[in-house]
Amino acid sequence: MSAPELVGGSAADRERIAHELVTVTIDGRQVQVPKGTGLVEAAAAAGVEIPVFCYEPRVGAGIGACRMCLVEIEGMPKLQTGCTTPVTDGMVVHTAGTSEQAAAGQSATMEFLLLNHPLDCPVCDKGGECALQDLSFRYGSGKTRMTFRKRSLEKPIPISPTIALDRERCIMCFRCTRFSQEVAQDEELSAVNRGALSMIATFEDEPYRGPFSGNVTELCPVGALTSTQYRFKARPWEYEQAASVCGLCPVGCNVAVQSREGRVQRVLSRNHPEVDRGWLCDKGRFSYSHLYSEERILTPRRRGVRELEELGWEQALDELEGMIERAQGEVVLALSGSETLELAYALAKIVRQGAGSDRVVLPEQAADALDPFRVPISALAEAEEIVVFEECPVLDRAPLIELWLKQARRNGAHVTRIGPSGDIQRGRGEAALACQELAEKESALGKRLRAAERAILLWSGGGGAGGCHLAALAHALGLHEKEGSGALLLPASPNARGVAEAWAAAGDENRQPRQIGLLVVSGDEAASEPQVRQLAEHARATVALTLFAGDSGEWADLVLPATGYLERSGTMRNLEGRLQRLRGATGSPARRELSWLAELAGRLGVDLPGSEAALFTELSAKVLDGISLASLGDRAPLPPRVEAQTFEAARAESPPTLLGGPLELIRYRALFSGPEVEHVPELSFQRPAAEVEISPEDADRRGISGGNEVVVRSNGTRVTLRARINAALLPGMVRVAAEHCAELARGVEVSRP
Ligand code: SF4
Ligand code: SF4
Ligand code: FES
Repeated sequence: MSAPELVGGSAADRERIAHELVTVTIDGRQVQVPKGTGLVEAAAAAGVEIPVFCYEPRVGAGIGACRMCLVEIEGMPKLQTGCTTPVTDGMVVHTAGTSEQAAAGQSATMEFLLLNHPLDCPVCDKGGECALQDLSFRYGSGKTRMTFRKRSLEKPIPISPTIALDRERCIMCFRCTRFSQEVAQDEELSAVNRGALSMIATFEDEPYRGPFSGNVTELCPVGALTSTQYRFKARPWEYEQAASVCGLCPVGCNVAVQSREGRVQRVLSRNHPEVDRGWLCDKGRFSYSHLYSEERILTPRRRGVRELEELGWEQALDELEGMIERAQGEVVLALSGSETLELAYALAKIVRQGAGSDRVVLPEQAADALDPFRVPISALAEAEEIVVFEECPVLDRAPLIELWLKQARRNGAHVTRIGPSGDIQRGRGEAALACQELAEKESALGKRLRAAERAILLWSGGGGAGGCHLAALAHALGLHEKEGSGALLLPASPNARGVAEAWAAAGDENRQPRQIGLLVVSGDEAASEPQVRQLAEHARATVALTLFAGDSGEWADLVLPATGYLERSGTMRNLEGRLQRLRGATGSPARRELSWLAELAGRLGVDLPGSEAALFTELSAKVLDGISLASLGDRAPLPPRVEAQTFEAARAESPPTLLGGPLELIRYRALFSGPEVEHVPELSFQRPAAEVEISPEDADRRGISGGNEVVVRSNGTRVTLRARINAALLPGMVRVAAEHCAELARGVEVSRP
């Protein structure tokens, strides 16, 4: 049985307490549990239910707000709340099942909770999965003694474009406010007023903007906080549910994809305690409706005289076959890192075995050098020392990691960020140097890292060799010998390592064609890469697999509709190296890639299995030690660490000279960007502002104040943006979201227009 989260104290204290056992009797059943266990958990271990509303261990210890968990404890004069009572040795407890006093208390609580509740279950989106509905059926009286008119309030109030609040239904359990204050630490939700007038509100009625806000719709035990996208769409019992994995970043949160009549209606968390703890970011939760955007490409298109023209699949495959033939082996495949292993493997087989080419453009890699230092993401919560080499904001690369870092801090960890706006300020390209210094020189941080029993290093952007630099430091610190210590790299794409493995499984040579006869671009992320765009300029022909012919629509000769990650089945390897299963939601408006790739393979004489399972078996035999799909289960295990080797530390290179201007431009891909967000109107308020972050020193020198319109220019290119003064930013650097600085070079100048 699991003990509740013990907040505060050192990890060693928590471990010691968990090992002392106490005996408690609940409704006549005796059970032994670790000291410090809460009564609700102890009762569950004894097979007794204590009903709760406000209690949710993931948002902190019990607060006794709703009184639903009242129990009688022998020796105590009054009823006690189970959620705030840790068990002690010899405690004898009677729940409502065996105590008249507890039953009367619970029934009175239920009556109070329903006093002003509108009882509008037939039209409430929570109906069918509501704790209040369920518990009032089981513990409520079935009739009301209230004859007065109930309080009515304005409803629903949009607290953001994605979340609606219906205050009449709220039972003031404070789960949402505790999430906002304790877990996400955005401080945007709070309770205002007192007594019967208490209500949930956002700070100064501003929209709830936190990137994890959607979690409150799942936490709310009643229908008070609901998703605006989901309201009045369907009932919980009408759904088909697929146990899948989010494919939008390298965390790989476990999700339940619920669809009705072939259309995804919502994405919920599916708690993998080592990966996501049941939280999702708002991009993963709310972006599913991009699949039904009218701009999505559903039929193949070919470049006509003036624009892209639709054509049937038969013709499209004729066209593609012809392109491959004419390229005579000079084919380049550009992968995004958002493909499943199976899809990447199928594409690799077509290119390597069907087109006779061996050239690939892979996304920035997560190196296998870190395999000896592998730790589950959840180890962050227990770490004493965490160092984040943060050239790209962790939140934008792997949002859930930011929540784990907050939890680590709550549990007492030191978190040190090293980067352009970190606690230790270092410029671009200097993360490797900082690693080297920590490994070789004595410093206060280095001493703490060596002394810590649990230390974790994180690398968030800053060059392709990040894994090697981090591995060298982790090795120097001896992290491979300490359980709970380790190193994790946050790659820029969800399945960077998986697609490289899939490519390797389809052949082992690497020949560079002199020219590019055909460029095959898989996915919108690859299409937006400057390197891929350059290749497209030199290629005689280009084919793009895309959801929206955004970037590639401008230059591809043939555009083939792709499916989204929620529609795909297969596997992906996340940033820990955990291989997880995606299970596609039922139905997709686009033809599945594997269906037409199998047809194309047949024409090219390539032996390509037509199902994901068969593809997995084939590639597993080649590069995954023959593991089976079944062994991954619904919540995939973390592969064991591999033996540590001696590392030849990669020397840190000095950053190249800036061309174009004296300020260094840091371009980052913001969390709320990309086609999955651009085609969801409810998320548009979260998209990155057209602004440039600049240090106060650089702003002063140029006479710039916060909010000023400024021109950012380099090598003859210029963009107009708004200035935001960032006091944490290292002088000499400016930061702009990638979608607002596509054409700018690395060195820029910023001035008033
Ligand atoms: S809105 Fe929901 S989660 Fe928040 S206090 Fe009310 S009932 Fe609880
Ligand atoms: S943190 Fe990453 S994997 Fe998790 S929901 Fe967000 S985008 Fe998806
Ligand atoms: S669950 Fe114990 S008071 Fe709410």
